[in-house]
Amino acid sequence: MEKLNVGKCHIRFFWFFISLCFALSFLFLYFSSVTLFDGKSRYDYPVLSPYSNLMAISENDAKPITRSPATDHVMRNQSDSIDRVTVTNEALPMEEKGDEPVEDKPVKETSSIDKSKRSEPADERLPITENTTGPDSDICSGRYVYLYDLPSRFNDEIIKDCRSINLWYDMCRALENGGLGPQLVDTEKVFSHKSWYVTDQFTLEVIFHERIKHYKCLTNDSSLASAFYVPFYAGLDVSRYLWGFNTSMRDSAALALMKWLTKRDEWKLMWGRDHFLVAGRITWDFRRLTEEDQDWGSKLMILPEAKNMSVLVIESSPWHRNDFAIPYPTYFHPSRDNEISQWQNRMRRLKRRFLFCFAGAPRPNLKGSIRGDIIDQCIASRRRCRLLSCDSGGNKCQKPSHVMKLFQSSVFCLQPSGDSYTRKSAFDSMLAGCIPVFFHPGSAYVQYLWHLPKNYSRYSVFISENDVKAGKVNIEERLLRIPRDKVKSMREKVIQMIPRLIYADPRSGLQTIEDAFDLAVQGVIGRVNKIRRGIRDGPDSEMDYREDESWKYRLFGNVERNEWSPFFTNWKDSDS
Ligand SMILES: *[C@@H]1O[C@H](CO)[C@@H](O)[C@H](O)[C@H]1NC(C)=O
Ligand SMILES: *[C@@H]1O[C@H](CO)[C@@H](O)[C@H](O)[C@H]1NC(C)=O
Ligand SMILES: *[C@@H]1O[C@H](CO)[C@@H](O)[C@H](O)[C@H]1NC(C)=O
Ligand SMILES: *[C@@H]1O[C@H](CO)[C@@H](O)[C@H](O)[C@H]1NC(C)=O
Ligand SMILES: *[C@@H]1O[C@H](CO)[C@@H](O)[C@H](O)[C@H]1NC(C)=O
Ligand SMILES: *[C@@H]1O[C@H](CO)[C@@H](O)[C@H](O)[C@H]1NC(C)=O
Repeated sequence: MEKLNVGKCHIRFFWFFISLCFALSFLFLYFSSVTLFDGKSRYDYPVLSPYSNLMAISENDAKPITRSPATDHVMRNQSDSIDRVTVTNEALPMEEKGDEPVEDKPVKETSSIDKSKRSEPADERLPITENTTGPDSDICSGRYVYLYDLPSRFNDEIIKDCRSINLWYDMCRALENGGLGPQLVDTEKVFSHKSWYVTDQFTLEVIFHERIKHYKCLTNDSSLASAFYVPFYAGLDVSRYLWGFNTSMRDSAALALMKWLTKRDEWKLMWGRDHFLVAGRITWDFRRLTEEDQDWGSKLMILPEAKNMSVLVIESSPWHRNDFAIPYPTYFHPSRDNEISQWQNRMRRLKRRFLFCFAGAPRPNLKGSIRGDIIDQCIASRRRCRLLSCDSGGNKCQKPSHVMKLFQSSVFCLQPSGDSYTRKSAFDSMLAGCIPVFFHPGSAYVQYLWHLPKNYSRYSVFISENDVKAGKVNIEERLLRIPRDKVKSMREKVIQMIPRLIYADPRSGLQTIEDAFDLAVQGVIGRVNKIRRGIRDGPDSEMDYREDESWKYRLFGNVERNEWSPFFTNWKDSDS
């Protein structure tokens, strides 16, 4: 009996063992084929370009030539207070907030940063409010935002008069669908689902406003609000007067807004230091230093009221306190979580036939621009580099399908500065799972602190523009030297970052994933809480560092010299 049982047992075990082996080898084969397939898709293709002719387009023409930082601020002598500077919550990049190694991390959690900030108790408010609710009874506690109802001249009327917004092209279509623009027709199967739009790079303030209208934690009770949002369309406003108008026209709405705001009781609570606004243009469009009509832009950002606020822009100034960079809008505006994970999976599986690519135009009139060198190097590496040339008047560069197709078929995407440090293209390329190559830390690393990982080498390649200018670097060779494993992990990081870099469809929003909007709101609330604590308990953290050292303080928590210092030393004469 016993023997028999043992025998049966052996037989059962035998079959179990056989099936286990079978299952394991199946799994092994599956994974190794996936790896092989993936590994093959790197650089060693015969380059059979489906795009054999160079395409043309005009890039963003609406940026200013100057990137000169304003000298408006008070140069306080704070050298004695520098020692006191400590790393705090404000504006810390995502790694600092418990971002774990990217691999194997479910998509949903890539943006699970800083839960603590969200549950910040409402009594962070100043003046301290009465304690009516327990800390856990309200999911919005510490996240309430007060949405101003502004006179329509500051927003809706600007949109109604959309024809006058841009001298060079009609913005009316771009403002359709709450600033998302016209829906994209996916004739070339480059996109997914229906959540793709021809989104203009300058409509972020409208998208943001639409989005906040649907924000779950809005309040009209100023004693409950963690931050106050001012829905002024600053970029669209100034855009109307950038060319051929005098400075009083350019400043008029900004001045009127400040006059209106400072009369509100909400403003008086904290002198506007808990207020924020979003401007979908670069900071240099709002930092005019003189009253000369030929000087560029408005002076919105240097008004004393605006200096007390947080202004979110698509490119911030490294040398100022009051502006914060948030991602340019891309073409993808999903309304369901699974649209994002499907897109990510698709970007993981793509075959990328080009080692690198560049979409853009040279800047022959811009002294020190490396655009020309980049283009020359791309042409010289034509088997491995694909160029989408944007300077010969066609419209291919403005066609989202061309641009996205290019980024989807490249391993690396070159992102040199143009008229200003940053480019929309950097975000489009990351959305396509293409690893960005930056040439100046101002193009991303000191900019999008709420959205990009602090450790830039995890998701991007840095090649100093000085080395390119000096002819010291061959981009193709440099990129080829990066080990495949490293390339793979950078791409995976980029793909995992996608949810953080896109703005969901304002009309529905996402279910659990936090997008660029959510991170921006959290960033503002974190900053305001810190200011509030400073006012209440001291010291006022904003005064801990000299304003022109803002970028160092925000990125590293101190103002010591660091690896990027050489790129930001000559700020006082950077326009010379
Ligand atoms: C700033 O303060 C330090 C120490 O308090 C002093 O040595 C230095 O001369 C001051 N610099 C200026 C420009 O006033
Ligand atoms: C506020 O509420 C919390 C939780 O309900 C309670 O522990 C605390 O004592 C209250 N504080 C005051 C000042 O009433
Ligand atoms: C705030 O007040 C406005 C106008 O009175 C109203 O339309 C809106 O629904 C209120 N919002 C909230 C969150 O109570
Ligand atoms: C500025 O231009 C507007 C119209 O374009 C004009 O009405 C106004 O008088 C000008 N202001 C100054 C100070 O020149
Ligand atoms: C800005 O805030 C400071 C306090 O931090 C306040 O003294 C000042 O009056 C405010 N400026 C304006 C224009 O409200
Ligand atoms: C940054 O990430 C790279 C890997 O991508 C790693 O080797 C390096 O140690 C990290 N640096 C820091 C300061 O964490």
